[in-house]
Amino acid sequence: MSRGLILLVAALVVYVSPDVQGTAHLSFSNNTEVNITRDGCGDTKLCVATPDGCDPAGNTNCLFTSVTTSSQAPSGTELSVELRGNSTGYIALGLTLNATEGTTMLFICAQNNGSFLFRTRQNNNTDNELTPTERIVREIRGVVNGSVIKCEFDIPNVTDTTLSVLLGVGSLNGSVFGAFDNRNSGLLNLTQPVSNVPTTAAPTTAAPTTAAPTTAAPTTAANTTMAANTTATTMGTTTPNDSGAVQPHAVLLLSVLALCVMLRA
Ligand SMILES: *[C@@H]1O[C@H](CO)[C@@H](O)[C@H](O)[C@H]1NC(C)=O
Ligand SMILES: *[C@@H]1O[C@H](CO)[C@@H](O)[C@H](O)[C@H]1NC(C)=O
Ligand SMILES: *[C@@H]1O[C@H](CO)[C@@H](O)[C@H](O)[C@H]1NC(C)=O
Ligand SMILES: *[C@@H]1O[C@H](CO)[C@@H](O)[C@H](O)[C@H]1NC(C)=O
Ligand SMILES: *[C@@H]1O[C@H](CO)[C@@H](O)[C@H](O)[C@H]1NC(C)=O
Ligand SMILES: *[C@@H]1O[C@H](CO)[C@@H](O)[C@H](O)[C@H]1NC(C)=O
Ligand SMILES: *[C@@H]1O[C@H](CO)[C@@H](O)[C@H](O)[C@H]1NC(C)=O
Ligand SMILES: *[C@@H]1O[C@H](CO)[C@@H](O)[C@H](O)[C@H]1NC(C)=O
Ligand SMILES: *[C@@H]1O[C@H](CO)[C@@H](O)[C@H](O)[C@H]1NC(C)=O
Ligand SMILES: *[C@@H]1O[C@H](CO)[C@@H](O)[C@H](O)[C@H]1NC(C)=O
Ligand SMILES: *[C@@H]1O[C@H](CO)[C@@H](O)[C@H](O)[C@H]1NC(C)=O
Ligand SMILES: *[C@@H]1O[C@H](CO)[C@@H](O)[C@H](O)[C@H]1NC(C)=O
Repeated sequence: MSRGLILLVAALVVYVSPDVQGTAHLSFSNNTEVNITRDGCGDTKLCVATPDGCDPAGNTNCLFTSVTTSSQAPSGTELSVELRGNSTGYIALGLTLNATEGTTMLFICAQNNGSFLFRTRQNNNTDNELTPTERIVREIRGVVNGSVIKCEFDIPNVTDTTLSVLLGVGSLNGSVFGAFDNRNSGLLNLTQPVSNVPTTAAPTTAAPTTAAPTTAAPTTAANTTMAANTTATTMGTTTPNDSGAVQPHAVLLLSVLALCVMLRA
């Protein structure tokens, strides 16, 4: 198949799939290297991880994100994000003003049978419904190895001064992203870019292993004990689907989408 035909097919698929948003707001880096470490945590970058303090460079089941703030341009701050975790569906960073009300902007790194894809979604913090949304994201790069997804990306024009950073996972069935399961969070203070506090080593937080059969309902207000700059509150419930197998059907469809994304890069 010629490249042009592949793009055409992909475009048609995008057109006929109501749940699939456009991807024109996403731009990919031509550098595919992804190197995520704890270097700079608590010093140059805010780190949030589950289990607390786990090493994203290791081979363990470590869900990790870091956020670095750069240039305070007039249009807002640019955030550079690293994200790493085990999932056969997706891992995501969420930015929100208040995790118990309003909405969360989700930045999703996902895999479909080993192919990397990136999407943005809006999460309703009240009913946990996801809606497609087109937030500009740049310099996206990601790799998938087995159940491990790693990605990096930049979010320009962030104008809020204080944001809760949420870290979580979810399933991907065909083109449908399952509910965002929030596993940990931190507070990002954009007025003091270089000195954000890392995740607190709070082993008292409930381990995110208690599987609940119900969907992640708005159980977010589990424990809102907030340290001044950092929280390590475990919110939401885990879904038993996290490490389940990727659903085989519609994989081909999304592979074409992923190919389209790759060709656009
Ligand atoms: C990425 O592209 C820029 C210019 O668009 C180029 O300067 C740079 O060398 C490229 N990097 C890689 C890794 O290809
Ligand atoms: C990854 O980053 C660490 C520290 O920043 C560095 O020591 C290491 O060499 C890097 N690895 C690769 C493959 O670039
Ligand atoms: C997470 O990934 C590591 C490899 O980095 C693997 O050893 C481990 O079994 C994975 N855990 C799950 C739950 O898939
Ligand atoms: C950021 O905001 C400025 C001013 O509003 C605008 O000119 C620029 O295009 C925006 N950049 C992005 C990536 O949205
Ligand atoms: C978040 O919203 C709840 C109400 O939904 C409110 O009680 C709480 O004070 C808010 N938290 C912050 C930090 O504004
Ligand atoms: C979030 O969901 C609640 C309950 O379904 C609804 O009342 C509210 O309008 C939704 N908010 C947004 C921003 O969609
Ligand atoms: C993928 O993961 C396996 C096991 O964790 C490792 O041996 C292998 O080198 C990894 N492959 C790449 C390309 O990183
Ligand atoms: C995936 O979606 C299909 C319908 O599109 C449904 O039949 C199937 O049960 C779903 N699988 C899971 C694991 O939710
Ligand atoms: C953010 O940092 C500024 C400057 O250090 C401080 O004045 C402000 O209170 C901080 N905000 C929060 C919510 O911690
Ligand atoms: C929240 O956590 C604090 C400290 O771990 C604990 O004292 C408090 O009882 C918890 N509150 C709830 C509602 O679980
Ligand atoms: C939060 O940040 C402020 C400003 O840097 C600092 O004074 C305060 O001690 C920090 N609080 C915690 C709990 O780290
Ligand atoms: C997933 O990918 C592997 C190798 O990349 C392939 O053998 C397998 O058939 C794929 N599964 C589906 C459902 O497409």
